[in-house]
Amino acid sequence: MSKELIRLVDCCMAFDGEQVLDHINLYFNDSEFLTLLGPSGCGKTTTLRIIGGFITPTSGEVLFDGVRMNDIPPHLRQVNTVFQRYALFPHLNVFENVAFGLRIPKEAEVNGKKKKVKLPEREIRERVMEMLEVVSLKGFENRKVTELSGGQQQRVAIARALVNRPKVLLLDEPLGALDLRLRKDMQNELKRIQQQMGITFIYVTHDQEEALAMSDTIVVMDQGRIQQIGSPIDIYNEPKNAFVADFIGESNILDGIMHEDYVVEFFNRKFKCLDKGFAPMEPVDVVIRPEDIDIVAPEQGQLRGTVTSVTFKGVHYDTIVDFKGYKWLIQTTDFHGVGENIGIVLNPDDIHIMHKSEYSGMFGDYSSYSEEYDEMDDVTLLDEEDEEESHEE
Ligand SMILES: Nc1ncnc2c1ncn2[C@@H]1O[C@H](COP(=O)(O)OP(=O)(O)OP(=O)(O)O)[C@@H](O)[C@H]1O
Ligand SMILES: [Mg+2]
Repeated sequence: MSKELIRLVDCCMAFDGEQVLDHINLYFNDSEFLTLLGPSGCGKTTTLRIIGGFITPTSGEVLFDGVRMNDIPPHLRQVNTVFQRYALFPHLNVFENVAFGLRIPKEAEVNGKKKKVKLPEREIRERVMEMLEVVSLKGFENRKVTELSGGQQQRVAIARALVNRPKVLLLDEPLGALDLRLRKDMQNELKRIQQQMGITFIYVTHDQEEALAMSDTIVVMDQGRIQQIGSPIDIYNEPKNAFVADFIGESNILDGIMHEDYVVEFFNRKFKCLDKGFAPMEPVDVVIRPEDIDIVAPEQGQLRGTVTSVTFKGVHYDTIVDFKGYKWLIQTTDFHGVGENIGIVLNPDDIHIMHKSEYSGMFGDYSSYSEEYDEMDDVTLLDEEDEEESHEE
């Protein structure tokens, strides 16, 4: 059974009267990998700083093991933080960077008196070496940190944060500075370290793929509010509103009407779905993932449309299809050229129904997406014209 470690109760945060966190209620379990995911400015770092004790919420409570911690400073909480800019000490080698926190004398009671106590050198050595092994940097202890790759530096920062044996590690976009390939390697590495050490990671990212790949639990945030909490699979398959559906992966989002349990209407046609519990004739948002749509011959399709743009993405084609003026994104490994008429078939489990929300109508039409492509084409044309002009000079 997982045990609850930290809980935020109705936490609000305002800076200069402006509210940036709006009643955050959230708990964190022992040994859990939890990710705060959301767009820039949604309040991820602020939430992390409240947990770390760097700021105090304007209202609400921060509980550790059920005890109120609002005013307890960071070094007295059992958490440690890896920041995006993980300033290592450039004049110290790898070993001393990791050992740094262990060398600071700690207050302890000796014979009933409070005293500053230093860890014995032997213990420091053992713990640093153990951590270097965990982050796969054994043999690097005498290296200057300035002579390490970005990924290796990142691992030193993680070892430095873990060596104090925190119960919880807070990581604020720790892989932001790394290139894509290294990012992917480090994602696996971090997951492995978290599982091996059996501690709680609270991880911040705005990268949805990263969140899906690493997390036990994802908390999707927008505008200082929690939009949804769930496992990666739940969040992807059962988004709660149009914001989550749009932010996690690509989504076609359409206006629909729920006629009765398991029957939804959109585009003047009824479709079978797996959703129930809506009011009769309730207006709803319908999500259809681009990779779930089957393209068939026009006469076999439940809906018919015309391809308006195709972009090769390596594994699949991003194909934009116009259905009566509403543009859908379809991801398919089969090529269908611009101007081609196609039909599509939707199975009941390809359709997901959501209640209307403040985000309805804001996302899920790919007209602007294809315009982006058109604009990119325009840019190329302009560049070519510019070049021609410069040749003429
Ligand atoms: N110390 C501060 N003073 C005033 N406003 C602040 C302060 N810290 C954060 N904010 C504001 O609070 C909001 C949330 O900021 P926060 O740093 O939590 O966002 P974030 O989700 O971490 O974004 P990003 O992905 O860009 O790092 C932003 O509008 C930000 O400008
Ligand atoms: Mg941030």
